[in-house]
Amino acid sequence: MGSGVDVALMLIIGRGEMPSFDGAISSEDMATIINYVRNSFGNQGTLIDSEIIESLK
Ligand code: HEM
Repeated sequence: MGSGVDVALMLIIGRGEMPSFDGAISSEDMATIINYVRNSFGNQGTLIDSEIIESLK
């Protein structure tokens, strides 16, 4: 339930054995995935959009 930016950076950069998804998944799809996981399982996370994700690259 931290910042969606942290999850976005995880997808853009990757970490350890987790691959980067930059270039494989569009910023729009990344936003959709992040918003889904952060608003499922009873969670209520603030929404992120593709412009914020683009600004992190
Ligand atoms: C696209 C959907 C995905 C999302 C949203 C996602 C998100 C995350 C996040 C937020 C973490 C950090 C967890 C923490 O800090 O405790 C993480 C870690 C990790 N993810 Fe993913 N992930 C995704 C897909 C994948 C895939 C497809 C793989 C494997 C091929 C993978 C492998 C890993 C691994 C191995 C770690 C641990 C990295 C480390 O700390 O060494 N993830 N993931």
